[in-house]
Amino acid sequence: MRSLGSAGSEVEEVDGRGLSAIPGLVDCHTHACFAGDRVDEFSLRAGGASYEELHARGGGILSTVRATRAAGADGLAAALRKHVRWMRQAGTTTWEAKSGYGLDRETELAQLRAVRAAGGVPTWLGAHTVPPEFDGADAYLDFLLGEVLPEAAEIADAADVFLERGAFDAVQARRYLSACRAAGLALRLHGDQFTESGSIPLAVELGARSVDHLEATGERGVAELAASDVAGVLLPASALFLNRPMPPARALIDAGAVVGLATDFNPGSAFCESLPLVCALAATQMAMAPEESLASCTVNAAHVLGLAQRKGRLAEGYDADLVLLASEDWRHLAYHLGGPVVDTVIEGGEIAWNARA
Ligand code: NIG
Ligand code: FE
Repeated sequence: MRSLGSAGSEVEEVDGRGLSAIPGLVDCHTHACFAGDRVDEFSLRAGGASYEELHARGGGILSTVRATRAAGADGLAAALRKHVRWMRQAGTTTWEAKSGYGLDRETELAQLRAVRAAGGVPTWLGAHTVPPEFDGADAYLDFLLGEVLPEAAEIADAADVFLERGAFDAVQARRYLSACRAAGLALRLHGDQFTESGSIPLAVELGARSVDHLEATGERGVAELAASDVAGVLLPASALFLNRPMPPARALIDAGAVVGLATDFNPGSAFCESLPLVCALAATQMAMAPEESLASCTVNAAHVLGLAQRKGRLAEGYDADLVLLASEDWRHLAYHLGGPVVDTVIEGGEIAWNARA
């Protein structure tokens, strides 16, 4: 620092004494573009109802679909702005957000546009669940690929599918993802959340960027993913929120898999926008060292988003996205469970948020 000399009057100097600097956090898996909330459902689940039961009864994802369709473009943009503010205050400077709460042409595209306009990386999750207007998954996929994909591919960066019992099976997911790939989209999958559903072999076959969730993944899946270039994105806040087993992080890392960490921020399975909290869960529930967590929600997450040349590192040539943590020891990121660990957020060289302001 001493050899830097005067920075000149155009540069705002920040006193970092007592703080530590890390790269701005990268949240590579969120559903932040939603209207309303699901606090009623949360209360029912707290009393013993299961997420899958609520989904089967037309609640769950479909109740957020109703709220999101009703919000209109302005309402949706306002909700997203609020969610982006929450994410920024938790240290997130780069974020992905999926559609999947429209499930009709207009609202799916409105979600993707809102994410792009708010500075996020949009992923098309048209294949999230089958909406009530359609008789089955195949008829819905006909509609998605014929009527929505051409325009979605212009706005989104990647496509995603929920491959799970009660959503889409492996044959349907292959059809959807192959068409999306042909339209130029990168591929992601929600896989092995409740059951091992064939998502890992499919992701490897199609050259997907990642399979996300993996709470149900067994030894074979771990070995197969580790032997591939496909990243595993772990979402421990979702496992905690649904009281599900944590994904096998240690086994994946030890076997050599590329591991990302993300929030899965959404109103149903993870009402949590905090990557520091995710790092605390990674440390306490998944035996991940703070160094591994930090890499997983910076450089590895940037890789999952195809942004590894610009985001996720403090290095020459990279965007000046930084978080100043409220401790001299950066490991407080994972250590300070639920605490006010973020002091200052810098995006593109500008102070975007400060805890003391
Ligand atoms: O990643 N599993 C599917 N989708 C989301 C949850 C969406 C919701 O419940 O609204 C997830 O957990
Ligand atoms: Fe998700």
